[in-house]
Amino acid sequence: MELATVRPGLDDLVAGIAAITGRGLGGRAAAHAVAGLLRERLHTLDPLTPQERAGSPEGYVSHILHAQEDFSVVAVVWRPGQETAVHDHLAWCAFGVISGIEHETLYRDMGDHLVEIGRADNRPGDVSGFAPPGDIHRVRNISAEVGLSVHVYGTDVSRSGSSVRRVYDLPVR
Ligand SMILES: [Fe+2]
Repeated sequence: MELATVRPGLDDLVAGIAAITGRGLGGRAAAHAVAGLLRERLHTLDPLTPQERAGSPEGYVSHILHAQEDFSVVAVVWRPGQETAVHDHLAWCAFGVISGIEHETLYRDMGDHLVEIGRADNRPGDVSGFAPPGDIHRVRNISAEVGLSVHVYGTDVSRSGSSVRRVYDLPVR
């Protein structure tokens, strides 16, 4: 079976992202340009099988849909209440929410502790982008439905194993 039939909408999205990353933009500009593309394409994406779409009782699940040297496309499935650790990222990121509500808490690293510097609720259709530094956050699905979001990272996560640069275990004050 061809990938295109398994991951509807992905081929067009990948081609569009490659056109953006080929322009050699900096991290923040690339993230914002890819976020704009995601905003246009989000409704065309149906990237997971019903089984993948169901998520896991063990925690949120990331599916690498596409990876190449300069970017990766990852679908994340979150059951209600599932969340990430506090973390930052190896590269810029753009993401769009297809279902669920991704509640994001942002932190600043003060050396021996973290301080909370902001919160955002990302709902279906919402798209955002960011780039390191200053990208420490925790994300939680606060809705009662299974959440699905598509993330584009400016690195090959199949090589690095993850988009995470560091997990923060510091107290929040
Ligand atoms: Fe993240």
